[in-house]
Amino acid sequence: MLIISEEKKLEEELELDQLTKQVMNLAYDNSLSKSLMVHGIENHTGMVNYWMRELSLREPMSINLQKNLIYAISFHDSGRSEEGTDPQHAKRSAEIAKKIIPHYFPDADLNSIIWGIENHSCLRAPNDAVYGTKKFFPVIDNFEVPDGVNPLIPSYLWDVDRLDMLRFPGCDKVDERRLSTKVAKEFANSECHVRAYR
Ligand SMILES: [Fe+2]
Ligand SMILES: [Fe+2]
Repeated sequence: MLIISEEKKLEEELELDQLTKQVMNLAYDNSLSKSLMVHGIENHTGMVNYWMRELSLREPMSINLQKNLIYAISFHDSGRSEEGTDPQHAKRSAEIAKKIIPHYFPDADLNSIIWGIENHSCLRAPNDAVYGTKKFFPVIDNFEVPDGVNPLIPSYLWDVDRLDMLRFPGCDKVDERRLSTKVAKEFANSECHVRAYR
């Protein structure tokens, strides 16, 4: 029994690895700017996918959830035109995802993916504008999640994106107040997390 479940786990890992490569290539082929270094597929987006898989080892996620996260992560910055703040990139990335994902992956949870991408770069939550208050931070509890959106998809997308904040030279700690899930809060700034950036 144990052997079968181990085998199944390995098969799933392999399936997710192959899917990640396929979706990342698709996102790259359809991305607005192919010359970005930091936000390129090999760098930031690759790391964000890596952190999702790392969190899945600590908090069990269904294979369906992981597939939807691979779609969301791979496309979340596809609309970037530059490396800086690029305030409109979330909307543009969502537009690209909306066109491409259902064509190749008709079973994807498109509503949840698109809503997650559209809101992934909000600097503050819509409920409160005062810095320092609990409601300021752009975490899932501070948003009105529309009907039909699975909150786990935006929550994990935003968290794993933020775990890669350590790539910035001046950033040596991820602000846990900006994380939505318990597992990401526990993992952020751990030895395993920080070591990847040394
Ligand atoms: Fe982004
Ligand atoms: Fe990102």
